[in-house]
Amino acid sequence: MTDVSLRVDLPAPTTDRSYEIVVGAGLIGRAGELIRPLQARPFLVVVTDENVARLHGDSLGRALARADIRYEFIVLPPGEATKSAASLTGLMSRMLALGVERTDVIVAFGGGVIGDVAGLAAALVRRGCRFVQIPTTLLAQVDSSVGGKTAINAPEGKNLIGAFHQPSLVIADVEALATLPRRELLAGYAEVVKYAALGDAGFFDWLDERAGKLMSGDRQMLARAVEICVAAKAAIVARDETEKSERRLLNLGHTFGHALEAVYGFSDALLHGEAVAVGMALAFDYSVRRGLAPEPDAASLKAHLASVGLPTSFGDLPPTNADRSPERLVALMRQDKKMAGGKLALVLAAGIGKAFVEPDADLDDVRAFLAQAGAP
Ligand code: NAD
Ligand code: GLY
Repeated sequence: MTDVSLRVDLPAPTTDRSYEIVVGAGLIGRAGELIRPLQARPFLVVVTDENVARLHGDSLGRALARADIRYEFIVLPPGEATKSAASLTGLMSRMLALGVERTDVIVAFGGGVIGDVAGLAAALVRRGCRFVQIPTTLLAQVDSSVGGKTAINAPEGKNLIGAFHQPSLVIADVEALATLPRRELLAGYAEVVKYAALGDAGFFDWLDERAGKLMSGDRQMLARAVEICVAAKAAIVARDETEKSERRLLNLGHTFGHALEAVYGFSDALLHGEAVAVGMALAFDYSVRRGLAPEPDAASLKAHLASVGLPTSFGDLPPTNADRSPERLVALMRQDKKMAGGKLALVLAAGIGKAFVEPDADLDDVRAFLAQAGAP
């Protein structure tokens, strides 16, 4: 398989922060040689979680050693709960205790959880160190490792404490996906579908024909899907790094989804990608209710998500005693980062591949819709 190199070209005066995204197979084994040119000294800290350390830590360690890079691993517990204030402060203390300097490189080696918390630590320690993303989940390869959003969750809502801090390099090794549990592959696939649903109907058709192969872990197909998503994201981030306009489209399904994640306490009971799948179905259904999107497009999107086993409705969510009433969901949606001047910008769609931002969503109407959609 040939490696593909893409680029986030941030406009002047930020061009010094532009960076490469390398997508290919076997890249963890080449991480040392890829990272070494970025370093002021041959030392780095790898932040990872227990699963990734167990499955892929040795390969990364060997690759760094081959490039004469000295390294320390900081291994965090796996799961969404690691995106907490307590784990962030603990991580930063350990980085400082290891003598991390501002010009050192921090490597975020794992899924979106590790990328988000390690990226935020890198943004904060000594007012900002360089960091490299080595994403090991499908979700992180297609989305979270690119674009510089870093965050932890707050009790009030998802990703509410964070910073924009761009990595210096992204190394997406699709071979790492071979060890990913199916549920995690599926959760990542929801973000793949998001790119199609928001702006690329042709990609949706491509996915519709190949979902089976992708879900069986076909490496070539997965690599192609990662390239398509990353190219789309890199272009959007280059045009709107700090989400003033177009980047908001990447939140398709997320305002509903983040509210659901909060209901489930940011736990592994409901994975981010699963929440996004339900959120996208709700965004399309709401668009149909408003007469903005054709019903067959919403039906196709939901059928596609369901065909691979992703949830698309309240009925598909795990049982919970937590309050997930329309009132609670709308209250949680008000915590969305797209709230401005007391108005919620909601990403809706005029059809598959045609997402747009409604700047001032009518939250009473959204509440009525959620009640009709079966929010208990
Ligand atoms: P995750 O990081 O929790 O990883 C999922 C699970 O897979 C974990 O148990 C992990 O240990 C395990 N794992 C990781 N790589 C593995 C591998 N190769 N083999 C076997 N197991 C492996 O979850 P995720 O889905 O990658 O990321 C979700 C997070 O990403 C959410 O917090 C979400 O908010 C965030 N996110 C951020 C952005 C962004 O732009 N910053 C975008 C989308 C999502
Ligand atoms: N995942 C949404 C974004 O990066 O903007």
